[in-house]
Amino acid sequence: MSQITFTMIKPDAVANGHAGKIINDIIEAGFTIVSLKYTKLSPEMAGKFYAIHKERGFFNDLISFMSSGAIYAAVLQKDNAVADFRTLIGATDPTKAAPGTLRAKYAKSIDANAMHGSDSDENANIEANFFFSQFERF
Ligand code: RTP
Ligand code: MG
Repeated sequence: MSQITFTMIKPDAVANGHAGKIINDIIEAGFTIVSLKYTKLSPEMAGKFYAIHKERGFFNDLISFMSSGAIYAAVLQKDNAVADFRTLIGATDPTKAAPGTLRAKYAKSIDANAMHGSDSDENANIEANFFFSQFERF
C-alpha cells in the first residue's frame, strides 16, 4: 500500500478561483485524492491544527489567515507521498519556490501561500484524522 499525505488549498487560492487548476495539477502529478472536503476553519480549529507553531511570531497572523475563508482539505495517496507533495508545492515563501511548483504558480506571499502539505508520515496521519473520520486506501 502506498503512503498518504494531507493537504489544504488555503483561503487565498480558493478565493482567487485556483482550486480547480490546483486539483488538476495534483492529479496530473500522480496523486490519488482519497478524501476531499470544502470547509472553513474556525480560529480555534486553525490554532489546534498549527499548535506546533504557537510560540512563533507569525502564529497569530497564520491563524487569522487560515480562518479567513473557505478551504479544501484533502487526503492524497501516492508512493513517497509526503516528500513528493512537498516537492510539488515548493518552498514556503513563494518568491523562493521553484518554477512550476504550486506555490510559484498560485501563491502571492509567505502568509497567503496557497497550499499546506504535511511534513512527515506521522503528521500526515494526525492531520488526515483531524479532518476525516475515515478514508479509503486502495
Ligand atoms: P504548511 O505547514 O502550511 O504546509 O507550510 P510549511 O510547512 O511550508 O511552513 P511552516 O514552517 O510549517 O509554517 C506554516 C505556515 O506559517 C507561515 N509562515 N510564516 N513569516 C514567516 O516567517 C512565516 N513562516 C511560516 C506560512 O504561511 C507557512 O505556510
Ligand atoms: Mg508545515
